[in-house]
Amino acid sequence: MVQLVPTGIRGLDEILLGGIIRNNTVLVKGIAGSGKTLLGIQFVYNGAVRFDEPGIVVSFEANPDKFHQDAEGFGWNLQELHDAGRLELIFTSPEVLQTELDDPQSLLLQRANEIQARRIFIDTVSLFQGADPNGLPKARGRGSYRSMLNQVMNNLHRAGLTAIIAHEVAQHDELVCSLEVADVLADTVVRVDRGRRERGIYRSIAIEKSRGQDFDAGRHTLLITPGVGIEVFRRVQAEVRGLGEQPTSRVKRSLIGVEALDTVFGGGVYEASVTLVIGVSGAGKSLLGYQVAAESGKNGRPALFGFARRASVADSTQCQRTRAGSWRTVCGRNGAIFA
Ligand SMILES: Nc1ncnc2c1ncn2[C@@H]1O[C@H](COP(=O)(O)OP(=O)(O)O)[C@@H](O)[C@H]1O
Ligand SMILES: [Mg+2]
Repeated sequence: MVQLVPTGIRGLDEILLGGIIRNNTVLVKGIAGSGKTLLGIQFVYNGAVRFDEPGIVVSFEANPDKFHQDAEGFGWNLQELHDAGRLELIFTSPEVLQTELDDPQSLLLQRANEIQARRIFIDTVSLFQGADPNGLPKARGRGSYRSMLNQVMNNLHRAGLTAIIAHEVAQHDELVCSLEVADVLADTVVRVDRGRRERGIYRSIAIEKSRGQDFDAGRHTLLITPGVGIEVFRRVQAEVRGLGEQPTSRVKRSLIGVEALDTVFGGGVYEASVTLVIGVSGAGKSLLGYQVAAESGKNGRPALFGFARRASVADSTQCQRTRAGSWRTVCGRNGAIFA
């Protein structure tokens, strides 16, 4: 039975159908500013705060202050977690990280053991390009990067860490090459995107592959909200899950209250179904609606009537005039609901 590690990111766990498989390495790729760093920090932060899974963040960023500042904008106090022994923040170079991961006695792995780290985020492995742990002339090309990244992933796995590794997407030849390699080696590949839409920015997230687990495919909306962090909204066209057969599809009910119409409808409409009424202005669409609501009320089933516009006195009067029922305006600002 696979064990899933929740990211704690609203919406992301839903499209992953629970979370990331424990001990997997997830590659998060995207252009600059697409949200890779935030996603990784949020994953580790949530682990430490909500899931009793301390973690490590490794950054090759030269300016730790900026890193803390960004996190504070979302209400994440990384320093506090660090002081409580729940989070280790490491600012280093790709070369040093590799050497540390290779040696079980290294400070990094000892520290991981001390705080019982279960999660790690490495920002970014694109900087591994050409790194050489022995300080020899930098190894170039696909082969050397592949074995290096492979070793890093094996070491993370051995240390019992569920990992997110970030990778930059750019036109640069070397990056294209290293990204292909990372795509192949990672267990899960997530793509984050940032583009312009009208006057704003549209962000999205898509899971491209995930070994050993099903997920909701396609591009889902990603929002970055100050004070909250990343939130994911599942694409509406995604397959509906978990509802099974809908019980509403079998029960028919006379809702209209006009015998002739019920006959036309074949004995009524399916319960909890949606019926679209189309007609030119004045054809009686609203009236039919009032009648359905009034009929429902008479049978002890309260009804709601909503307007997608400001309701007028005439609407209210017309409601009152339909045969039965006492009507009450529940909400009357930009639209109104009579109940
Ligand atoms: N404190 C914050 N509040 C709101 N939005 C932020 C904050 N910090 C960063 N962002 C937004 O998140 C985006 C960058 O996310 P980031 O994870 O740094 O991208 P990447 O690592 O992919 O380059 C920024 O472009 C910015 O719009
Ligand atoms: Mg970044």
